[in-house]
Amino acid sequence: LWLALGIRKRKPGEPPVENGLIPYLGCAVQFGANPLEFLRSRQNKYGHIFTCKIAGKYFHFLCDPFSYHAVIRQGRHLDWKKFHFSTSVKAFGHDSMDPRHGYTTENLHQTFMKTLQGEALPSLIETMMENLQSVMLQSDTLSPSKDRWDVDGIFAFCYKVMFESSYLTLFGKDLGNDKNAARQQAQKALVLNTLENFKEFDKIFPALVAGLPIHVFKSAHSARENLAKTMLAENLSKRENVSDLISLRMLLNDTLSTFNDLSKARTHVALLWASQANTLPTAFWSLLHMIRSPEAMKAANEEVKNILESSGQRVDPSKPQLTLSREDLDNMPVIDSIIKEAMRLSSASMNIRVAKEDFLLHLDNQESYRIRKDDVIALYPQMLHFDPKIYEDPLTYKYDRYLDDNGQEKTTFYREGRKLRYYYMPFGSGVTKCPGRFFAVHEIKQFLALVLSYFNMELLDSAVKVPPLDQSRAGLGILQPTYDVDFRYKLKTQ
Ligand code: HEM
Repeated sequence: LWLALGIRKRKPGEPPVENGLIPYLGCAVQFGANPLEFLRSRQNKYGHIFTCKIAGKYFHFLCDPFSYHAVIRQGRHLDWKKFHFSTSVKAFGHDSMDPRHGYTTENLHQTFMKTLQGEALPSLIETMMENLQSVMLQSDTLSPSKDRWDVDGIFAFCYKVMFESSYLTLFGKDLGNDKNAARQQAQKALVLNTLENFKEFDKIFPALVAGLPIHVFKSAHSARENLAKTMLAENLSKRENVSDLISLRMLLNDTLSTFNDLSKARTHVALLWASQANTLPTAFWSLLHMIRSPEAMKAANEEVKNILESSGQRVDPSKPQLTLSREDLDNMPVIDSIIKEAMRLSSASMNIRVAKEDFLLHLDNQESYRIRKDDVIALYPQMLHFDPKIYEDPLTYKYDRYLDDNGQEKTTFYREGRKLRYYYMPFGSGVTKCPGRFFAVHEIKQFLALVLSYFNMELLDSAVKVPPLDQSRAGLGILQPTYDVDFRYKLKTQ
């Protein structure tokens, strides 16, 4: 009977198991409603590790941060590729990028490291800084004035400015430096269309990851197809200043894969999503929390002013050419802490590995648990980020939480007197850690430094509450707000 119902009985040595109330779905509904609450209640009941059936799979949730290491270090029993590659295929519809399936021999991990980190970073940052200033001050995306306040939603503002700037940074411009008005307009229309299609598609992203077929969602389906069309090689190859990431991926699609043209284009849509989906809400939470906190605004303003002064730069909205080198960006502990704290409060990613074979998982407290082949082991770092034993008063935004007594980056955090190796994980962990994280943090620092330099900003309602997190994306990264918050801005008079 157990077998017929697909229900698992706990065997000796295995973690406690919950099959949930509904066959196949198991605990999916309870988990989905509020993952943090669900996991905490099970942790209270069972301890450091327990197993839940979710949508036909058995997930072992490991809740002890001192045991995270057992999963994060790349052990021979654990596979990270299977889950990641199949999720990407489900969401974006390209052929498998797992070399084991025979469509490509590209080592994607290497491609990402080569084009998003190290020597590739300075040029990405430089282009992003130019694009941000042109979008904020020169294109007609915004039309800020010294004499008039403009009102906008903070999320809407971040969306417009960050999407356009980082899209142009990664995928290049249609017209190089052509100032022809008609071509400018065509480029603007392309960006706006891409943004609208991205939004439409992003809405149903959680449903796709959960395994629903895209055909169910008519408008999101056509949005994804429209995005793919703009990413066909015939269109991308006309663009100038395409980033190393996209040019190398185009080359490797052509030389190492058997993908057809559309499948190639869909792999670029996947990167568009990866580069925007978490960055946009992070920009929102960082800007919102900063504007809400007068001390954060003051400290951040001072930090930016000092950095610009030390390199002899003057803020002039009619000639927006500020530059921040990589060293400058690495030397902004206040803004770094503002962003980190915003991510601590809004991140809900899930770190996943799949058991390649039956094995014994050793925890930090000397206990060991039997894990079966094909089971999933999951870490849910929000449990860490909201743990009152690590972060005092965890629901409160404290802009200087990641600053030490000398005003530098704080890197030592404790739980019950024991120093933690893992205390902050919005970018994932181990081999699957986000390869774009340095660029992501740099671009958000640039964004904050520029809005602080050029604009006066105020909340419309100075007592406005922080909007709740939209839990429909729990497990997928930085959560969005359930509604936007209005602010007003105008150009600073220098
Ligand atoms: C993967 C977070 C921005 C490129 C990931 C993962 C997370 C993450 C949690 C999955 C890790 C895992 O599965 O364990 C974030 C956050 C960002 C951000 C919080 C912004 C604040 C970016 C940007 C780019 C990028 C700007 C590129 C320009 C990627 C790629 C992957 C990835 C390519 C897939 C890596 C792989 O599967 O090997 N990111 N990311 N991310 N991210 Fe980011």
